[in-house]
Amino acid sequence: MSDNRAEELERLHAQVRACTRCGLHATRTHAVPGTGPCPADVMIVGEAPGFNEDLQGKPFVGAAGQLLDTLLAQIGLSRESVYITNVLKCRPPQNRDPMPHEAEACAPYLKRQLELVRPKVVLVLGRHALERLLPGLGSITRLHGTFVERGELAYVPLYHPAAALHNGALVGDLQRDFDRVRTYLDRVLKPPEPEPAPAPAEPPAEQLKLL
Ligand code: URA
Repeated sequence: MSDNRAEELERLHAQVRACTRCGLHATRTHAVPGTGPCPADVMIVGEAPGFNEDLQGKPFVGAAGQLLDTLLAQIGLSRESVYITNVLKCRPPQNRDPMPHEAEACAPYLKRQLELVRPKVVLVLGRHALERLLPGLGSITRLHGTFVERGELAYVPLYHPAAALHNGALVGDLQRDFDRVRTYLDRVLKPPEPEPAPAPAEPPAEQLKLL
């Protein structure tokens, strides 16, 4: 079953690479569908590819990606163990903010990625991802580091690593919020308690007399 999902995700990536649903396809070098295993316990959703991501076709390969790798390593996760994608799959010119119609055009890809990867936790990086995944809930300043549970899935809004590169004061918040993610994962990924051993059978009355 998970093999089928992984294959379907590969087909979805191919569709993204050929996508012309909005004007961004005209200015991209490469579309950036996402990277990582399927299924994965942790999925990370950023805003949109930047300069380096557009060149390489992979998410978070620039400076923000290096900080992301460091934060993941701090809680014992490697980039290879998590699925990473963005709200927009193509770079907006000059890294401008995503426009609503672009996010709307890309939304079916993100929805299908969530269905196929079936994460336990989604790390929601920055206000654009927050507005797309948890619309109207509140600002990133208020919600960062909280767990918004939707059935089996928890969304965790976090400051975008690029914001922390501009404002070093956010790095401490990011580190504390990542620590919370580790604690949460330890709880939800804990193996089930073993079944209690059955109580030993009472020896038959005859045997008791001999003891
Ligand atoms: N910022 C993002 O939001 N996504 C990337 O892939 C890189 C930088």
